[in-house]
Amino acid sequence: MTSEITVDALTKSEAAVELARLAELLGAANRSYYSGLETDAASKLDDGTFDSLKRRNTEIEKRFPDLKRPDSPSDQVGAVPSEGFSKVEHAVAMLSLSNAFDNEDVTEFDARIRKYLGLSSDAPLAYTAEPKIDGLSLSLRYEQGRLVQAATRGDGAVGENVTANARTIEDIPHQIAGAPDILEVRGEVYMGHADFAALNERQNDNGAKTLANPRNAAAGSLRQLDSTITKSRPLKFFAYAWGALSEPLAHTQMDAINKLQSLGFSTNPLTTLCEGPQEMLVHYQNIETQRATLGYDIDGVVYKVNDLALQERLGFRSTTPRWAIAHKFAAELAWTWLTGIDIQVGRTGALSPVARLQPVTVGGVVVSNATLHNEDYIKGFDSKGAKIREGKDIRVGDWVQVYRAGDVIPKIADVDLSKRPDDAVPFEFPHICPECQSAAVREPGDAVRRCTGGIICPAQAVEKLKHFVSRGAFDIEGLGAKQVEQFYADGWIKEPSDIFTLKERYGNGLQQLKNREGWGDKSADKLFQAIEDKRKIPMDRLLFALGIRHVGEAASNLVALHYGNWDALEAAVSEAANLEGSAWDDLINVDGVGSVMAGSLVTAFNQERERASIDRLVAQLEVLDVARPDTSGSPVSGKIVVFTGTLEKMTRAEAKARAERLGAKVAGSVSAKTDILVAGPGAGSKAKKAADLGVKTLDEDGWLSLISDT
Ligand code: IVH
Repeated sequence: MTSEITVDALTKSEAAVELARLAELLGAANRSYYSGLETDAASKLDDGTFDSLKRRNTEIEKRFPDLKRPDSPSDQVGAVPSEGFSKVEHAVAMLSLSNAFDNEDVTEFDARIRKYLGLSSDAPLAYTAEPKIDGLSLSLRYEQGRLVQAATRGDGAVGENVTANARTIEDIPHQIAGAPDILEVRGEVYMGHADFAALNERQNDNGAKTLANPRNAAAGSLRQLDSTITKSRPLKFFAYAWGALSEPLAHTQMDAINKLQSLGFSTNPLTTLCEGPQEMLVHYQNIETQRATLGYDIDGVVYKVNDLALQERLGFRSTTPRWAIAHKFAAELAWTWLTGIDIQVGRTGALSPVARLQPVTVGGVVVSNATLHNEDYIKGFDSKGAKIREGKDIRVGDWVQVYRAGDVIPKIADVDLSKRPDDAVPFEFPHICPECQSAAVREPGDAVRRCTGGIICPAQAVEKLKHFVSRGAFDIEGLGAKQVEQFYADGWIKEPSDIFTLKERYGNGLQQLKNREGWGDKSADKLFQAIEDKRKIPMDRLLFALGIRHVGEAASNLVALHYGNWDALEAAVSEAANLEGSAWDDLINVDGVGSVMAGSLVTAFNQERERASIDRLVAQLEVLDVARPDTSGSPVSGKIVVFTGTLEKMTRAEAKARAERLGAKVAGSVSAKTDILVAGPGAGSKAKKAADLGVKTLDEDGWLSLISDT
C-alpha cells in the first residue's frame, strides 16, 4: 500500500516501537480469533488486516533481526484453549503456516528451501499446491481404525476435546479400514456458503444471534458444549495433514493425501502437484479464479514440499514448518465515512488513535473501527517526514478507504478529498493524556506519543492489571477485564499485589463483595478460591504478567529458562542496573533476548516505584522454578557444539537446528568451553584451536552416529 509508512523508512527505535505495537495488536487479535466463540465480536477481527500487520512485522524483523521480540507474532500459533472442554495434549504439535503475500515471497520460499537442503537452483523439487480453507483446524485420532478423539488446535500444544461434536460431522468417518494402528488425521472444519446463509436465516427467524462469516459459524458450531447443536449445523471437513502415525502413510505429500482419500476422508479436489514456483503461481491463479464459485471460503493457497523425507529434514521453526507456506489472497477494500477519532491509552502509555467509522461491510465482515497508527500517519507523512497518501491528512468527516487484511483492526488506507466536507478541520493530536492529563510526549525517534503518568495514569494501571489477569499471565477465573475495571474504579485493586490481599482487606467484609452488583455468594467464594489457586505461579508466567514493555510470553519463557529461579533473575537484573558488566552481557547473550528487551527488563526492575510494586507482589506469592525441557536422553544435551568446514550430508542451518533440538548449544567459535567440534573437509583455524585446547573433534559421520539414536 502506498499509504503504509514504509518499513525502509523506519529508524531502529521506531522499528522497536512498531514491533511492540504489532505484538500487542496481533497478540490480542490472535486470542480473540481463536476463541471461536459466537459471543466474541467477530466483526472487529478480520482476515486481511491481520495478514498485513503480520507481514509488516515480518518485514521489520527481517530488516532489524536483533529487534525480533521473543513474543513476536511470527512465533505465535493460536490462543490458549477455553474452559468448558477437557484439554488434549497433542502428541505432535499443531502448527501454523508462515505466509507469502506475493510472487516474490513464493520464489524466496523455494530458494530458502533449496539453500537449507543444499540443492542447486535447477535440481528438481516438487511441491503440492492446494486451497487454504478458511475454517478451523481439527485433529482426529484413530486407534485400530476407530475414531477415539477429536481435538481443536488450541495453542498448538494443548487443544480442546471436541470428540462428541466431531462425530456429528458427516465427512468424518467413525471407523476406517486399512489404516495404520495409530493415525491422527488433520484438516479443516468449515461451513459452505449455502449452509451458512441458511443457518443465519434460521438464527434470524428464531431471534438468535447471526454469525459474521462462515469461519465463525464453523468455529462456534464445533465448540458447542451441547453436541446436538453441532449436529444441527452442517459442518464439513477436508483432510490435508496428519499428526502421530504408527507407520508412514506414503513417501510423498501427494500420495499421503491420496491415501487419506482412499481411507474415506474428503480431500480437496484442487490439490495439484507442481514442479517448482512457476507452476505453483499458475495454480495459484487458477484457484483464485475459481474462488468465488467454490461454495466455501478459502483465503489463499498452501504449498508443501512433496517429498516427505525432505519435509522431515526441513523440520520446523518454533511454530511453523519450513517445508510449507500459505500464499494469501490480496486484502479487501471498502469506502465509508470517518465519524470520529478517539485516543486510546495502552498498557505502556502509548496513545493510539482509533478511527470510528460508519459501519461498512468489507469482505463479508462489518467494520466500524480502524487503526490510524499514530499522529504522523493522520497528518499524511511517515515519521521521517516523507509523504504518504500523497500527503493527504485524515479528518473527521472524511470519506475514507478501509483496508481489511487480517484479523485485527482494519486500517484507513486512503482519503477521497473530493468528498471532504467544507467544515472539516485538521485533527489535533493531544499532547496531554486524555485519561490522566499528564503530559504525553514523543521521544526522539519514537513514532508514538506516550503518557508520562506511569501507574498514576488510570488507563495504564488498568491496562496493566488487565494484562496481569489475562490468559497467558495469571489467568484468574472470575477476574477478567470487566471485573478489574470495576475493582480499580472502586479503589479495591490498584496494583497486582492488591489482588492477593483482596480477601484479607475486604473478605471478612465478604459481604461487601457479595452485595456488589454482579456478585453473589457463590461467585465471591469462587473468586477468592481462584485467587488462592494462583498464589503458586511459575516464574515465566509471573514475569510475563508484569507487562514489562518488550517482555512477552516467549521472552519471559526464555529468560526464566536461563535463570531457573526468581531469586537468580532478580539478582542478575539488579546487578545489570547500569546496562553493563557481566550480568548484562550474560542477559543480552540469551538466545532470543536482544538489548532492547534486556534494557526494558533491567529498567523495570531498577525503577524504584515499579520494583517496590513487584516486591509487594512477590511477597504474596510462591514463585515456582521453571521446568527445563527434557533432553536428558540426548547424548549432546547441554553440550556446546561448534560446526566448521563443509558438511556434506546437510547444510549448516540444518545441522544447527537438529543439534539445538537435542539440547545442544551451537556456538560460532571454539573456546575452552566448547565440548565438541564437528569438522568437515576444509576446516581450518577452528580445528587447530580445538586441537590446541584438547576439544573433542568429530567428523560429520562421527557426529551423525553420536546423535543417531535420538
Ligand atoms: S497445512 C504443519 N493445509 O491454515 C502445517 N493448513 O495458517 C499444517 N489451513 O493451522 C497445516 N487450509 O488451520 C494446511 N490446505 C491446508 C490448509 C491449512 C487451511 C489452516 C490450518 C492451519 C492454518 C495456518
